[in-house]
Amino acid sequence: METIIRKTDPFRPDEEVIAQGAKILQQGGLVAFPTETVYGLGGNGLDADACRRIYAAKGRPSDNPLILHISSLEELAGIVKEVSPAAKKIIDAFWPGPITIIFPKAECVPYAATGGLETVAVRFPSHPTAQALIHAAGLPIAAPSANSSGKPSPTRASHVAHDLDGKIDMILDGGSVEWGLESTIVDPTGDVVTILRPGAITLEMLEKVVGQVAIDPAITARPPEGLVPKAPGMKYTHYAPKADVTLVSGPKDALIRKMNDLARQSMAEGKKTGLMSTDETAPLLQADAVLSLGSETDYAAIGAKLFDTLRQFDALGMDVVFSQVFSEEGEGMAIMNRLRKSAGYKIIQAQDEKGE
Ligand code: TXA
Ligand code: MG
Repeated sequence: METIIRKTDPFRPDEEVIAQGAKILQQGGLVAFPTETVYGLGGNGLDADACRRIYAAKGRPSDNPLILHISSLEELAGIVKEVSPAAKKIIDAFWPGPITIIFPKAECVPYAATGGLETVAVRFPSHPTAQALIHAAGLPIAAPSANSSGKPSPTRASHVAHDLDGKIDMILDGGSVEWGLESTIVDPTGDVVTILRPGAITLEMLEKVVGQVAIDPAITARPPEGLVPKAPGMKYTHYAPKADVTLVSGPKDALIRKMNDLARQSMAEGKKTGLMSTDETAPLLQADAVLSLGSETDYAAIGAKLFDTLRQFDALGMDVVFSQVFSEEGEGMAIMNRLRKSAGYKIIQAQDEKGE
């Protein structure tokens, strides 16, 4: 299959390009498009065959449900059974925007979209190109991140092309995305609103709107054997570049020393070695490649660069990458959740001179 790639101004999407994408979606085809979080791989969310094509293109396990994307609040009523008072508060505060909400599904939503679940995840993105495409298609659009399953999510059209060229009908190239990490997923169907995946809408922001908020334990640690995270996708290895990633934590001086030691050792073993750092630490580090995620005072920028930087290490042919860690505050929870998974939960503690 030849994949059509068309550029469009992200904020003033080209009508002709949008119409072409919408037509493909209506005919059951697959179109990748930018959102404010990451690029999505869209298909008709009410068409079980289109959903199956999405799983096939990504190589995604079929029990990992898809998110349905809408372009107006009116469309929500057609795909969910009910909107709880807590869900209503979250919608009023954060939609359109980078948060996905779980609802009991309406009958028309196929199990092929929900991985067999009775619930459906819904998102109303704020990105003008995403909104225009969904609106023109006139359908709820199922869209997982537009990467091969297990790879870092795509934050540029070139990442989508790298993973999916020849496997999907079209890519709308709207440049780099704004957030760079996937949406927060929140489940308001139980007694306590629970975050299933951290993202740009933080724990602190949600607490202000709905009061008490719980966090699915799978977010901060490797789920123990047998315990299934509430968002089925969270159980799979994710965000893994080809390079073997390990996290390094500790006070700054010890951290720098440890990262340099680890890099030296690894290069001595003949492995091409990269260090993932910040603007503050990069000048103090040495390895085959030292890439900075940005200033440690700007977590939004670090989140936006994380997946692109992991892909850059691959492009540079690194065998091994050591990354520093970040605090879990605010957007840090989303950054650390993705980093821990990309490292398969491997973390080395750097000790200071006193061995503390
Ligand atoms: O930012 C985003 O959310 C992007 C853009 C394209 O909108 N999409 C995205 O989709 O990240 P995906 O498929 O890569 O991640 C969807 C996550 C998976 O972890 C899946 O298990 C979870 O949402 N999910 C979907 N439906 C669910 C449901 N009914 N209950 C619990 N988790 C669900
Ligand atoms: Mg994904």
